[in-house]
Amino acid sequence: MASSCSDERGPLIYSFKGEKLIKEQETTIDEEARQRELWLKKLEVEYQEDLLNLERRAKESFKSIKKIVKKKCSDCHDSREKLPFYGRIFPRVNPVNKHQREGLIALDFKDTYPLLARGNPPQVALLKAIKSSVEERTMPLKSYLLVYPFRRITKKNARALLGWVTPLIAEHERIAQKYQPLFEASTTTARVERLFALKCLRCHGNGNNRGGLRGLEDLEKVLKNPKLVNLDDPRESEIYKVCESGEMPTDPNERLSQEELYLLLEWIEEASQKANN
Ligand code: HEC
Ligand code: HEC
Repeated sequence: MASSCSDERGPLIYSFKGEKLIKEQETTIDEEARQRELWLKKLEVEYQEDLLNLERRAKESFKSIKKIVKKKCSDCHDSREKLPFYGRIFPRVNPVNKHQREGLIALDFKDTYPLLARGNPPQVALLKAIKSSVEERTMPLKSYLLVYPFRRITKKNARALLGWVTPLIAEHERIAQKYQPLFEASTTTARVERLFALKCLRCHGNGNNRGGLRGLEDLEKVLKNPKLVNLDDPRESEIYKVCESGEMPTDPNERLSQEELYLLLEWIEEASQKANN
């Protein structure tokens, strides 16, 4: 047994051995950390490659829905489109002006893929929004269909749109899973930034102001906003409560997972500890 061996040599050697042991351990840790850094770097490169492949694939498969999008979405979701008849039908009210303006903020098919939207939300967030809009039949807007009933999406259109979007979401999720260690290696703040980018910023950040709430891209500011964050009682923070109750994000398919809720709370708790020290 190891202990009997050190006992034989007496305390002096023991302590010397002890020192050496610590040193040995330190170098192993250094070496491990270095290896891990290298591994993370390699993983980062693979991650970028996987994203590029996905982009190629998305562009290629978009061809199968190009016509549908052009006919049924482009009036409001393509910045290359000029205002069409729709705008001229109601020149006084001109609802398409507003629709196109707001539609383009939410989504622009101009470059097919990557999709554009104000605030550069992650692609997977936009893909999921498209999927929901097709499944829930929330697009094209009802008021628009009153004028253009034939631009309603048919069952066949829906199948085609889902056929484009679903494998891409799956691929994004596979990638997110595979490269989880990359994201876990980052700080709580960086992870919350990523969470907000994925699930909130397309409505509340980088110039988006839905429900009158903006600025979620600036985490420092969020923490300083007593309307959103309660540093004395993190669980009572508005920003946590609306997520925990499922009120936010508005799309029920996007609800924060238990882990994400925990991360959000942890982030506020860390700030709370700092503030109260
Ligand atoms: C008449 C204009 C119009 C047409 C046509 C239209 N949309 Fe929209 N779309 C909008 C507007 C306006 C918004 C922003 C809604 C908002 O701010 O809540 C929007 C938002 C969206 C969003 C983002 C939703 C979110 O949760 O962020 C998606 C996805 C979308 N549209 C998909 C489509 C698809 C797919 C089509 C074609 C099948 C389509 N839209 C056709 C006007 C339109
Ligand atoms: C598709 C758009 C959309 C997404 C995505 C979204 N929100 Fe919202 N959010 C809204 C709208 C619209 C309101 C206003 C709701 C109302 O007044 O009923 C709102 C309101 C809020 C409020 C209340 C603001 C206040 O003044 O009390 C908070 C807090 C909030 N959102 C946080 C979030 C967080 C955090 C996320 C991401 C986890 C998120 N939201 C994702 C659209 C969105």
